[in-house]
Parts: sequence; structure tokens; C-alpha cells
Amino acid sequence: MSSTSTCKVAVFSAKVYDRASLTQQLSLLGHNIEFTFLEPRLTPATVSLAKGFSVVCAFINDVINEEVLKELDKLGIRQVALRCAGFNNVDLVAAEKWKITVCRVPAYSPYAVAEHAVGLMICLNRNLHRAFSRVRDGNFSINGLLGMDFHGKTFGFLGTGRIGFLTARICSGFGCNILGCDPYKNADFEKLGGKYVEMDELLATSDIISLHCPLTPESHHLINEKTIAKMKPGAVIVNTSRGPLIHSRDMIEGLKSGKVGGLAIDVYEDEEEIFFEDLSSEVLQDDTIARLLTFPNVMITAHQAFFTKEALEAIAKVTIGNIASFDGQTSDDSWKQNQVKNQTHRRPSKESIDVKETKMGHARPPSSPCVVLR
Ligand SMILES: NC(=O)c1ccc[n+]([C@@H]2O[C@H](COP(=O)([O-])OP(=O)(O)OC[C@H]3O[C@@H](n4cnc5c(N)ncnc54)[C@H](O)[C@@H]3O)[C@@H](O)[C@H]2O)c1
Repeated sequence: MSSTSTCKVAVFSAKVYDRASLTQQLSLLGHNIEFTFLEPRLTPATVSLAKGFSVVCAFINDVINEEVLKELDKLGIRQVALRCAGFNNVDLVAAEKWKITVCRVPAYSPYAVAEHAVGLMICLNRNLHRAFSRVRDGNFSINGLLGMDFHGKTFGFLGTGRIGFLTARICSGFGCNILGCDPYKNADFEKLGGKYVEMDELLATSDIISLHCPLTPESHHLINEKTIAKMKPGAVIVNTSRGPLIHSRDMIEGLKSGKVGGLAIDVYEDEEEIFFEDLSSEVLQDDTIARLLTFPNVMITAHQAFFTKEALEAIAKVTIGNIASFDGQTSDDSWKQNQVKNQTHRRPSKESIDVKETKMGHARPPSSPCVVLR
């Protein structure tokens, strides 16, 4: 770590908006950092582009596995600065082995994601996406656009951390019943009127199920053939968390049978090669997402829940802070608070529950109300 020489950072998966927000925040913060913006995703095939840099800045769909980390170590990279909250794409055991520090942005704008989740719910329920296209096409029929009142319905939240809680808080305005399932209770969720139940009860009674838990080995394919069978017929699933929480082929069967009443997702199991790219002139090679796109009751957005001005600004600020403090350019050690280690996902971290204005307080329940089913 050094504070005298310029800290050279290779920014992978860089889009125009990353360039704009990181450049603008750097000029405001004035640290001795030089960003080089690289369009490719970080993968074993592109890792050599990190040669000559001291830090790699990566995003959601970059592949930071053992092979990449081993190569980064060889290239002398000592820090991976994630410009996102989730870190399921990082092999943290390998990162520890190769002594590469991984930092993230734990709290940028949970409001952005919560608001998008509710937007998806409303849009899908009232068929606004189809109505918009119809009316623009001169079709003013409302046949097939029937929705339901949210008022009086039951909304189930799998994961009641920052985003799950805030989504529930917005939904509480509809006058619905709120259920939660989380290994850690959030006192504010209960103050809102939310009730913690076993996963089976949540599945059996919820009209809308919204996923807000992180992707971990335990939550991988949390929504699968077995859990779908336990759902209330016609339940709608919303996923703004991580794609692999849902077994996509099982979901297709659930949608075909009508057991699942609708699906609104901002994340997709195999999104890495698809999302964030303009593939409109190409033949879509992923048959699963292609099939999902054929359902009238499926709505997909391409991982844009985080995408607000406030979130981009906060991501850039915290990412730069993580890099500058790790490089010894600041007197604080903020990178330590934002460091992710092998066990970080096991429980909500302190910073992950300190949402200003909401004062969330997770407490470990006497016994876990959430049994993860496979
Ligand atoms: N779509 C996007 O743009 C976007 C943006 C940011 C975050 N995310 C996703 O949202 C997720 C939630 O973020 P957050 O800030 O609320 O995290 P958080 O840590 O505040 O809350 C996650 C909650 O999930 C709980 N949990 C863990 N495993 C569970 C399980 N198996 N069943 C039920 N609950 C479980 C945890 O105890 C915790 O309370 C992140 O992990 C990330 O994957 C998506």
C-alpha cells in the first residue's frame, strides 16, 4: 500500500454511466487514483488486461473465480473493489488464499431496489407493459389485462434485510398482510406489522412472493419444483435479488401449469452473457430466457433495479473510498468495514442493517423461522 504513487485501477465491465459517475466523483474527492475503463467483463480470458494495474474494479457479472484470482495475484493485484453489494461472483476462499482483499459497496441505495421491486409488482399485476404496447399500436381493448387489488392480499418477503424491509414498507401502503421469512428477525419489519412465519406457511399463503435474500449455497434454487408445489395457486413471484435463487426450468413448468400466476424478475440465472448488452440484432442463444419471454405473465428487466442517480453516485463514492483507504491515501480505514470475507453472507453485516432513517435492528431469533428447502 502506498499513498505517494498514483493508484492505477482497471475498471472492468465499464459502461458509459460507470465512466461518468466514477470520473465525476474522483474529481470531487481528489484522490490520487487513475481509472482505466475496460469494456470487457473480467473472466479468465480477459484477466490479462489487469497487467500494470494495482487494483481491479469489478461488477455483478464479472467472473472472480479461483483461476482469475490466481492470475490477479501473479499480476500483483492486491485489491478487488466491487462496485456492487452482492459478492456471490467472487470465490472468497481463493481470494483469501491469494491474499487479495475484496471490498464491496454494502449500502448504496436500498430504496432504488425496493422501489423497482414494487414497480415490477404493479406493472405485472395490472399488465401495464402490455397496455402500453397495445395503446401505442392503436389497440384500445382491455381484454386480458385484468389485475387484482393488492389491498387485503398477502405479500411474503423471503429476506427482510434492508431491501426486503423497505419493499415491505412500501407495500404496507397498499393495505396488505405482510409475512416474512429470514434466519434473522428485523425488529422494524415486525413494527411495520410484518409477521415472521416458516417458509412453508409463507409459500402456502402469499399472493405475491418477493425475494430479497442473498445468493448463498443454501439459497441457490430456493424456488424450485418442490417449493413451487407448496405455493398458493396463482402466486406471483418477484425477484430483484439474484437470478440463481430461482430454478428457471422449474419456473417455466410452474408458469405453464398455471401454478405460478406471474413472474417479474430483474435478475436471471444465466444473465452474465446477456444482461447489460444490446443483443437486439442477434439471435438469442439462451432457450430458457427465450421461453420465459414468450409468457404474457412474465416481465423481465435487465438488472436495472440499482440504476438510479443516487445509487450510481453512492456506488462511485464508496468504491473510490474503498480504493483510496486501502491504498493508504486517507486516514480512515473504511475499506475494512466494506471488506467481504468468506463468512460475510452468513448473517447481515452491521453496515448492511444501518439504513439511515429506518434504524433496523436484526436480532438472532431463538430458532430460525426459515427452513431452506431444496
Ligand atoms: N437487482 C439489483 O440491482 C440489486 C441491487 C442490490 C442488491 N441486490 C440483491 O439484493 C439482496 C438483498 O440485499 P440487502 O441489501 O437487503 O441485503 P441484507 O443483507 O440487508 O438482507 C438480506 C437478508 O436476507 C436474509 N437471508 C439470508 N439467507 C436467507 C434465506 N435463505 N432465506 C431468507 N432470508 C435469508 C439475511 O438474514 C438478511 O436479513 C442482495 O444480496 C443482492 O443480491 C440486487
